[in-house]
Amino acid sequence: MASPPLGEVGRGWRGLGLGEGPSLLIPPFPLHRIILIGYMGAGKTTIGKALARKTGLEFFDLDWYVENRYRMKIPQIFAEKGEAGFRELERNMLHEVTEFEDVVISCGGGTPCFFDNIDYMNSLAQTVYLKADPEVLRTHLLMAKSQRPLIQGKTPDELRDYIKETLAIREPFYQKAKHTIQIEVLERKELINQYVNQICQEIW
Ligand code: S3P
Repeated sequence: MASPPLGEVGRGWRGLGLGEGPSLLIPPFPLHRIILIGYMGAGKTTIGKALARKTGLEFFDLDWYVENRYRMKIPQIFAEKGEAGFRELERNMLHEVTEFEDVVISCGGGTPCFFDNIDYMNSLAQTVYLKADPEVLRTHLLMAKSQRPLIQGKTPDELRDYIKETLAIREPFYQKAKHTIQIEVLERKELINQYVNQICQEIW
């Protein structure tokens, strides 16, 4: 299950330098790990599931994984352990879930922005930033029924300001991803398929 950290995952042939003499070429690693990052409401779970279906890779949602392992919902973890406590659990579970091979992982919106998480993810996976404008994010978040502790109780106007402020802080972390896909409002199934195809073209 565990695999060594690879700079380039599932791409081409790797030369193994053996000092003097020719390099030994080893076949491409059969393993694929794709990690989707981006702000809350960017569509990481929706696109991640569709990407997994298309590629035959297994899908993991990091939030669900945390909830399953700790048998607590995310709002409950925030309430009992605070955001700092949640970030610790989130990092631990990121390390656990990235031990799996041939997977698509969708992270929480804050995952790449804490500790060395984004560098860690880049060291062993193809990272894809699902980049969306604040208005697109707000539209998705207003449509969503899920409870997100960081934005719970905010009016649509407060939500607009919150997204703008926090996206500006998070953007430098997101931009460290190896690939970026621009996302518009996910109102048609064809759009989801289009993004999935774009991601596949970027990676393979
Ligand atoms: C968070 C995003 C959430 C979840 C938690 C914190 C964030 O995940 O991890 O509520 O800090 O942006 P989604 O991006 O899947 O909503």
